[in-house]
Amino acid sequence: MAAKKSKPKKASLNQPAEVLYADELKALNAVDDERPEGWKLAPQAVVTYLLGGEAPDGSAVSAKYVGNRRLIETAVATLATDRALLLLGVPGTAKSWVSEHLAAAISGDSQRLIQCTAGTDENQIRYGWNYASLLAKGPSDEALVRTPLLRAMEEGTLVRLEELTRMGSDVQDTLITVLSEKILPIPELDKAIVANRGFNIIATANNRDKGVNDLSSALKRRFNVVVLPLPSSLEEEVSIVVDRVAQIGAGLGLPDIEPAEKELARIVELFRELRDGQTADGKIKLKTPSGSLSTAEAISVGISAWAEAGHFRSGVVDADSLAVNLIGAIVKDPVQDAIVLQEYLETVVRPRKQWRDLYTAIREVM
Ligand SMILES: Nc1ncnc2c1ncn2[C@@H]1O[C@H](COP(=O)(O)OP(=O)(O)OP(=O)(O)O)[C@@H](O)[C@H]1O
Ligand SMILES: [Mg+2]
Repeated sequence: MAAKKSKPKKASLNQPAEVLYADELKALNAVDDERPEGWKLAPQAVVTYLLGGEAPDGSAVSAKYVGNRRLIETAVATLATDRALLLLGVPGTAKSWVSEHLAAAISGDSQRLIQCTAGTDENQIRYGWNYASLLAKGPSDEALVRTPLLRAMEEGTLVRLEELTRMGSDVQDTLITVLSEKILPIPELDKAIVANRGFNIIATANNRDKGVNDLSSALKRRFNVVVLPLPSSLEEEVSIVVDRVAQIGAGLGLPDIEPAEKELARIVELFRELRDGQTADGKIKLKTPSGSLSTAEAISVGISAWAEAGHFRSGVVDADSLAVNLIGAIVKDPVQDAIVLQEYLETVVRPRKQWRDLYTAIREVM
C-alpha cells in the first residue's frame, strides 16, 4: 500500500506586524510604565516601535516609518483621547502601513480591519445577523454577527477602517454615535454595547482618488487628521525603498541577486523628478504624469525588477529589468502619460551620459 503523502506545509504570504515584530514588541513591553488603560505599550514605546530606537533592555528596535517624529507623536497621542485618528495622504504614503503598526503596538492585534468600499453597508460596520439562527430563534445574542468594530468595542482594542471615504456618506455617519457616545445600540435586543477602554478607530483615506465621498462635518469633527507626506529628501526616500524592497523580496523568497541599491536610487530619482515637474537641479521644467509615482510605487518597481532579474537576467537589476516596469508605473493614462514619458526621455534621460542604458532599454520596448 502506498504511504499516505503528507501535505506540504504552506507558508503564508504575509504575516501581521504583531507576529513579525513580536520580539520587539515584547522588549518594549518590559518596563512598568504608565500606559493608557487597555494599551499594550506606553505611548513613548509605541513611538519608538514605529520610528525605531532602543528598547529598555538595550535591544535594537527597527524603524517601521521613516519621517517626521511629530506626526507619529500626534497620531499616538490622538489614540489616547476620545477622538479617532484619520491618516490622510496621497496614495503610497504608508497610511495603511502606519495604521497596521499602530494597531499592533497599541492593541497587539492589527487584524481588526474593515475595508470600506462603495458596497459597504451598515451591517458591515455595526453588526449583522446569522439568518438561519435569526429565523429559528428570533433576534438573540447568538444570532448576532459581530463586526470587527463591535468586537473592538467589546474588547477595548483599536479597529482599522481602510479607505474610509470610499463608502457612502450615509454609512460613514453610522460612526458618529460610536465615536461620540462610545456606544452601539442594538435595538433588536434592546441593549447597547458600551465600548471598553482602549477602543478607538484608525481610519485611512487618500486625497487623490476620484469617486470618494466627503466626510460629513459631524464626522470630521470627531477625527483628528494626520497628513502623511511624501518623503522630503531623496536620501530619505532611497533608504525607505532600499529597506522595504529588501524586506518584501526576502518575504516573497525571491532569488538572490546582486545588491541593487544604485538602480533603486535611480528609480527614486526619476520618480521624484517627474512628480515634482522639474529636474533635480531645477533647470528643466517637466510635465507631471497622472499617477502619483509615490514611494510605494518605487518599491513595487524595485520588487518587479528584482523578480525579473532573478528569474530571467542572471541576477543583476539593470536598465533592461527596469524598463517595462518603469513604463508600467509611469504610463497610467495611455495617451497623456506616454507623452510625458517621451518628453522626459528626450530632454532628461538621453542627455545624461550615465543614464544612456536606461534610455536605450526604454526605447526598445516603447
Ligand atoms: N515614509 C515611509 N516610511 C516607511 N515606509 C514607507 C514610507 N512611505 C511609504 N512606505 C512604504 O510604502 C508601502 C506602501 O504603503 P501603504 O500601502 O501603507 O500606502 P497607503 O498610503 O496606504 O497607500 P494607498 O492610499 O494606496 O492605500 C509600504 O510598504 C511602506 O512601507
Ligand atoms: Mg492604504
